[in-house]
Amino acid sequence: MSSAEPLAALADLLGPRGLITAPADIAPYAEDWRRLYRGRPRAVLRPANTAELAAAVGICAGAGLGIVPQGGNTSMVGGATPSASGGEVVLALSRLNRVRAIDPVDLTLTIEAGATVKAAQDAAAAAGCQLPLSIASEGSATIGGVLSTNAGGNMTLRYGNARDLVLGLEVVLADGRVWEGLRRLRKDNTGYCLRQIFLGAEGTLGIITAAVLKLVPAPRQRVVAFAALPSAEAALSLLTRCQRRDQAALVAFEYMGGHGMELVLQHIPDTQLPLAAAAEHYALVEFASSRAEAGFTEDVEEMIAQAMAAGEVRDATLAASEAQARAIWRLREEHAEAQKRAGASIKNDVSVPVSLVPEFLRAAPAACRALMPGIRVVAFGHLGDGNIHFNLRPPETMAEADFLAQDHAVMDAVLGVVRRLGGSFSAEHGVGRLKTYLMPDWRGGVELDLMRALKTAFDPHGLLNAGKIFP
Ligand code: MLT
Ligand code: ZN
Repeated sequence: MSSAEPLAALADLLGPRGLITAPADIAPYAEDWRRLYRGRPRAVLRPANTAELAAAVGICAGAGLGIVPQGGNTSMVGGATPSASGGEVVLALSRLNRVRAIDPVDLTLTIEAGATVKAAQDAAAAAGCQLPLSIASEGSATIGGVLSTNAGGNMTLRYGNARDLVLGLEVVLADGRVWEGLRRLRKDNTGYCLRQIFLGAEGTLGIITAAVLKLVPAPRQRVVAFAALPSAEAALSLLTRCQRRDQAALVAFEYMGGHGMELVLQHIPDTQLPLAAAAEHYALVEFASSRAEAGFTEDVEEMIAQAMAAGEVRDATLAASEAQARAIWRLREEHAEAQKRAGASIKNDVSVPVSLVPEFLRAAPAACRALMPGIRVVAFGHLGDGNIHFNLRPPETMAEADFLAQDHAVMDAVLGVVRRLGGSFSAEHGVGRLKTYLMPDWRGGVELDLMRALKTAFDPHGLLNAGKIFP
């Protein structure tokens, strides 16, 4: 088949709305959110439903055309960006965005992969439920993307990662067949758990087109607290205090370092610190409950007062309204955007055992400063589950290009600490393109052999999201 033929067949199948070939229209799909990579896809496919998508994959497979699935294009690691080879198409899931079913008794939501996380949250809320998954990019990130990367986010300490919320999947395989696995059973031990193989596989084993997600009843009350802390150790003590007080109600425990907060206040309009004085360490804590009884807020107030008496908290405020709660969450969720506006950064999305986060937050800056005096640390993240976004900015006097040229050396300095503490080089963002070089060292031997065996079994011709995960 000549190189023009699959495009003609795809045009017949998908029609003008479903196939983008004009370079200006392709451009947004060719570059990642961080602007680290720019690819050269032959076209962008936008099928309207699973049957069309499966047929399109069949055409691509027949022609040996590589496929890069793309959701909201919010990857931090270039996981959805095509290569510059010209031998790939981007498969955009945006038109597969329907809610197929919602069941407030079973507490399940069946939804297509191209729906945004926000749309899924809204659908759950309209039925009196909650989708217990929340990430900073939820307005753009899609269900297919967060499942393919096994995203974590703000509520992992209470509800687990994205993979823990999935009961069933519908997946288009590399040869165009469809696996109809949209079951909504809470128990189902019938051989290998296939859905878990596609979750977190970054689109390299199949293309997730729909999912059955677990919901929880909508909370009736929530309390959002924001606190200035004397140290990272104090943050860990406060977390332990919160867990002992009411583990079932604690849904988020987020950490923010002083420099990241400065960037948010400087670059994000309409933000302000809700405390009298700036600090080097902050925590955002959210408790939520489906109980309606009075005293929930007072209980958190009392606990914060005890934490202050114990020296764990310097100053704190509790949101007095939904608007204040949202304003406090913005301070945390705008960290990535603020850092982007501030200029170049080297990002590390790492995890360590929760108890070792303070040690990480002491040792990692020291390791970076030993390598590059004056380097600026933006540390924040999901302390409650041990996942810290340890991002670096250049010293004031260093050109951004010179800084970025040292990305591997800087990442290695951080990862040396992570390794010593028994952590992971990718906690929730995945491997994508950015971190493939780390795989042999961190996941080599038997582990990488098994991953390659899976890849060969599911995608023998290597057509799905080539260049991701594997070095
Ligand atoms: C977050 O938690 O805000 C994101 O994972 C973004 C980031 O790592 O910058
Ligand atoms: Zn995060």
